[in-house]
Amino acid sequence: MMSELRKVTLSDGELFVRDQGQGETILFVHGFPLDHSMWDAQVNALSSSYRCLAVDLRGFGRSTVTSGTVTMEQMADDLAAMLDGLNITQPVTLCGLSMGGYVAWQFWKRHSSRLAALILCDTRAIADTEEGAKQRLETADRVEAEGSGFLAEAMLPKLYAETTYHARPEMIEDARRVILATAPSGIAAAARGMAQRPDVTSWLPEIDVPALLITGEQDAISPAAEMAAIAQAMPRGTHAIIPTAGHMAPQEQPDAVNAALRAFLLNLK
Ligand code: MLT
Repeated sequence: MMSELRKVTLSDGELFVRDQGQGETILFVHGFPLDHSMWDAQVNALSSSYRCLAVDLRGFGRSTVTSGTVTMEQMADDLAAMLDGLNITQPVTLCGLSMGGYVAWQFWKRHSSRLAALILCDTRAIADTEEGAKQRLETADRVEAEGSGFLAEAMLPKLYAETTYHARPEMIEDARRVILATAPSGIAAAARGMAQRPDVTSWLPEIDVPALLITGEQDAISPAAEMAAIAQAMPRGTHAIIPTAGHMAPQEQPDAVNAALRAFLLNLK
């Protein structure tokens, strides 16, 4: 089912956001190159107790596309401006997956007074290697030149666990549709932004909000051992590994992920 999105006007564009439920705010931030809909199972389950915001980042979904480079810092600032636009002044729980996690680190750095807690799904604290960054820049140029079809085919098998990939063709098809519908220049700008993101490992001991880290056991992009080390470096970090899931654990195993989120959120009260 398509959910209705709300439009929030920023100083230089618009962000679209699914805004559902009442109570303390959880802000869900999607991975690359997807959109808010990857969080549908979380919003559907948690909006009975929380105000759930699932945003389309700049360049994704229906939100404003800015070509060139869009940094993780800019995306974090967009989120703060969106909260202003929605008159949300209370600190929020930010739940980001992968690129959404890269944005979450920057949100902590730049807007920490607005942050009550962090949920980091399938993400990394380190920067790209030189080779990794070079590949991203090549990908960005290629997406602009020929569209996102090749990227969808290259990424989909990496995003999902092999079991999901074969057993849930409709989930893979939905993700493919989202990627193909995304503006190539938005994808390219975010890829360039990720290529220049900093290594935030040295920040981790200072991030003292309650933090839940979640990894799909078979995540090929942000391995569980790496996320366990991030959780250990954060003063209030805990780590949950989700069986039979890859990088897209919240979509692949929504019940297990939602149970982990609920337990964490209840503990915050
Ligand atoms: C994502 O899911 O956001 C991407 O896999 C992040 C990345 O490519 O580093």
